[in-house]
Amino acid sequence: MNTQYAPAIECRGIGKTWNEAEAPFVALQYVSFEVKSGEFVVLLGPSGCGKSTLLYMLAGLERATRGALLSDGVPITGPSPERGMIFQEAALFPWLDIRDNVAYGLALQGVPRAQRERRAMELLARVGLNGFELKRPSQLSGGMRQRAAMARALALQPKVLMMDEPFAALDIQTRAKMQAYLLQLWRESGASVLLVTHSIEEAIGLADRIVVFTARPGRIKEIVPVDLPRPRNPRDEAFHALHDRLAELLADEVDRAFAEQEALAR
Ligand SMILES: Nc1ncnc2c1ncn2[C@@H]1O[C@H](COP(=O)(O)OP(=O)(O)O)[C@@H](O)[C@H]1O
Ligand SMILES: [Mg+2]
Repeated sequence: MNTQYAPAIECRGIGKTWNEAEAPFVALQYVSFEVKSGEFVVLLGPSGCGKSTLLYMLAGLERATRGALLSDGVPITGPSPERGMIFQEAALFPWLDIRDNVAYGLALQGVPRAQRERRAMELLARVGLNGFELKRPSQLSGGMRQRAAMARALALQPKVLMMDEPFAALDIQTRAKMQAYLLQLWRESGASVLLVTHSIEEAIGLADRIVVFTARPGRIKEIVPVDLPRPRNPRDEAFHALHDRLAELLADEVDRAFAEQEALAR
């Protein structure tokens, strides 16, 4: 197969049904989209629509029930260092300092200590953590931990960086700073980014394209390109207009998701 022009990520007719044999619960249906090499794509949708499920499938941690997931034109069958994953809470090893956390994947790959430590120091400097290399995760703030997690993911030079609501647990000021770091790292690394959020503002601030999902069963409602120059200013008129449009697309879906969650709790 000629994979030269294959997209970095491709979902073809993806469906996911949990517990299909006993009590089928449809999480995702008919999901098809692609992420081009170097592209920044955001998945936006109400809670429970299957965003995390889709990301875990793309990370190779879950299987799709229907359709095909491809990375560089090759079916995804399991995790790969080419697809880095960052979760909402930085999943760092608490017993290692952050330099060793960042160097961990390189150690597994057999990179000699001096070399991997140098690489870890460079990456930590790029996310503004120089001087903190020998601290443990518990000694850092949430924003610093999340930056260390970014440095760790980038150490393996992934082609795609996948992030599941990476800034949701951070305060709003820290969040804005983290978004700026992420855009800078994305530009420097040349990697594709696939980021999940339920924040319209975050989606517009970051994405080349926004994939908007319906409430569960999650389907693609629309794919919205963001043709605004970066850095983007939430006070600009064009930003506002896009915000209104996305809010309108999401409004019914958020109501449906809310009603379902309340019903399930009864
Ligand atoms: N391991 C699982 N087993 C059964 N149902 C699950 C599992 N993981 C998630 N779900 C359900 O699938 C739906 C989608 O979940 P998720 O992908 O976490 O949504 P989102 O990330 O968009 O909030 C939800 O209704 C959730 O309860
Ligand atoms: Mg989720």
